[in-house]
Amino acid sequence: MSNVVLSVKNLSMSYLAARGRVRAVNNVSFDLHAGETLAIIGESGCGKSSLNLTLIRQLPTSAKIESGQLLYTKRDGQQLDILQLSKKGLQKFLWSEISMVFQGALNALNPVIRISDMVYDTGKAHGLSKAESRKQALDLFEKVRLDPMRVFRAYPHELSGGMRQRVLLALALLLRPQVVIMDEPTTAVDILTQRSILEVLKELRRELNFSILFISHDLAIAAEIADTIATMYAGEIVEIGPVYEVFYHPRHAYTLSLLDAAPRLSVGAEELHSIPGSPPDLIEPPAGCKFHERCRLATDICAHTVPPIEIFNGNHRVSCHHHQIVRKEREEVIQS
Ligand SMILES: Nc1ncnc2c1ncn2[C@@H]1O[C@H](COP(=O)(O)OP(=O)(O)OP(=O)(O)O)[C@@H](O)[C@H]1O
Ligand code: SF4
Ligand SMILES: [Mg+2]
Repeated sequence: MSNVVLSVKNLSMSYLAARGRVRAVNNVSFDLHAGETLAIIGESGCGKSSLNLTLIRQLPTSAKIESGQLLYTKRDGQQLDILQLSKKGLQKFLWSEISMVFQGALNALNPVIRISDMVYDTGKAHGLSKAESRKQALDLFEKVRLDPMRVFRAYPHELSGGMRQRVLLALALLLRPQVVIMDEPTTAVDILTQRSILEVLKELRRELNFSILFISHDLAIAAEIADTIATMYAGEIVEIGPVYEVFYHPRHAYTLSLLDAAPRLSVGAEELHSIPGSPPDLIEPPAGCKFHERCRLATDICAHTVPPIEIFNGNHRVSCHHHQIVRKEREEVIQS
């Protein structure tokens, strides 16, 4: 595969809460390559947004990055650790190298600021003149299939949800970053709008060749957009691999449960399986495999021994004691 742009190594972070430390990100490692789309999937509360916010160091003051390295490689080959950047260095870095469309940002656009002023403010903070910012923005608005001049002059409330989502995407690309983090970018819009945003995103990616970290709890969307899928559970990446491998040959019982729970046209609602119980307490997580209390394949070993990391076919990484059973079960479902 192409060059690694972002290498996340053994990253852990926690929030300080009244009862103790909420271990929201636990020993997470992965590489994001140039032009790659990596989708992170998992249930609500598994740590997807916390991971993203850690990557760009936008955490609340109650949060602490416990350990890890975030190695980023610039276009000119220079490498830096995001965790070591000064406050000023980080300000310069964000938007120009990594930008983010935050979860819920659709409704958080400041209603009294025109889109043009948002463009100018973002550009100015990174040394772009007004004329340069305007030119870039109009070009990007056109690329995301908006009427450039109308949108440029508009206030957010004058635009539909789908249009605002495209504006956010264009703003995230204003400084031509190498990586865009998108946290649930399509959850707040209807299904047709979702579809057209995904089409626009694919087109943009082809043209501008940036990498995407795409956060979603919707497997169908993740499968459509991603090259690589990572399954997150209780703050950990429990499985990661090429999209085809993870969907057709998963090896983690939690990924299998997510696939069984995902709606498909080919099966009726009665054949869908929900995952029993709820995600574990991240202050005092269970011993062994953190999924064992909810896992239908769990055996004694799962309750007391952390499953080792195993790598298959070079790039499919999994931590599950019973990965062979998982793979067999999924293949039987696909063949039936
Ligand atoms: N500011 C905070 N202080 C304390 N705990 C927090 C804070 N933000 C998140 N958490 C906890 O950290 C864990 C991970 O939350 P996070 O928001 O990262 O999950 P998520 O996967 O993004 O969920 P969702 O799909 O609902 O957006 C949860 O247990 C959550 O309650
Ligand atoms: S290690 Fe055991 S409990 Fe954990 S996912 Fe695999 S089978 Fe289930
Ligand atoms: Mg979230």
